[in-house]
Amino acid sequence: MNITILGPGAVGSLYAYKLHLAGHSISLWGRTSSSKIEVTLDDGESIAFNNQSLEDLERCDLLVVTVKAWQVKSALLPLLTHLHPDAIILFLHNGMGTVDSLSEQLAHRPVLLGTSTHGALKVNSSTVHHTGIGQTLIGAWNKKGQQCEFVAEVFDHGFSPAQWHSIIQQALWTKLVINCAINPLTAILDCRNGQLANHEYREQLFSIVKEAVTCARFDGVELDAPVLLDTVVNVAKSTAQNYSSMHQDIYNKRQSEIDFINGYVVNIATKHHVDIPNNLSLYQKIKQIEASWSQHD
Ligand SMILES: NC(=O)c1ccc[n+]([C@@H]2O[C@H](COP(=O)([O-])OP(=O)(O)OC[C@H]3O[C@@H](n4cnc5c(N)ncnc54)[C@H](OP(=O)(O)O)[C@@H]3O)[C@@H](O)[C@H]2O)c1
Repeated sequence: MNITILGPGAVGSLYAYKLHLAGHSISLWGRTSSSKIEVTLDDGESIAFNNQSLEDLERCDLLVVTVKAWQVKSALLPLLTHLHPDAIILFLHNGMGTVDSLSEQLAHRPVLLGTSTHGALKVNSSTVHHTGIGQTLIGAWNKKGQQCEFVAEVFDHGFSPAQWHSIIQQALWTKLVINCAINPLTAILDCRNGQLANHEYREQLFSIVKEAVTCARFDGVELDAPVLLDTVVNVAKSTAQNYSSMHQDIYNKRQSEIDFINGYVVNIATKHHVDIPNNLSLYQKIKQIEASWSQHD
């Protein structure tokens, strides 16, 4: 396939490299204006991808969006006029709500939503490390997207395992709830994921999970809070040495994805007049930290 990857950061570079090795024609669309971007995965050979090639964009069959959630709108909107109407768009970032804010512009296009549990770390401008083996789940956002199940096979062939998920909202919500529990707490406590597996945090984690599960129901998704609490604790244990992405963002004074994680849950709760004090307080604390940088810097 002709694939353009919008946002060649850690995740975008990892997928670009793997899909290139599988024989697909990959082009990148990054912020830098240079015509080529070099990517090296772990100890592999360096590959020079086209960057910001309008020609590649116009003929691409699939656009994979791997910018951060809050970057999606400004990154994607200028590209839409150049995309073929049948080009598939796959959103592969954390958090929820980005596509809803673009629903008018995307309604007539085949749109897919995905979630990745791979770990990727960019250690310099061209080298990315595959730090954790995970999986990719892909599903349809709209009717046209439902005809694109083959995209999951393309990913499974190029970067296994990848699977089609007929109710992708379920998978996205599951990941969202895990992120709601682990991300802001690790950022606020300035700790690695593993610390949250300690019993002292169990009650707080359960409250966060229960609130998010209540909000998921308004989105038509049924989740099991005790099962999800176990998942959260298991993720904290299995990634014990890692710093969450929100921890890294806050530590480095970069805008976090909080608006699309706990913020997404808070919006639903507000709309339906439900009290979710734990998620609200985490959301507000992260927003306060972010606001304090512009005041002091
Ligand atoms: N890293 C992981 O292990 C991991 C795992 C699972 C999910 N995720 C999720 O995947 C998403 C991407 O994460 P990441 O770690 O890959 O982040 P990242 O390294 O910051 O990658 C984002 C990339 O998008 C680029 N970008 C920003 N605005 C752009 C624009 N307007 N046009 C073109 N490119 C633009 C950034 O360019 P600059 O370099 O110039 O800023 C950067 O290269 C996030 O939602 C994250 O939560 C990450």
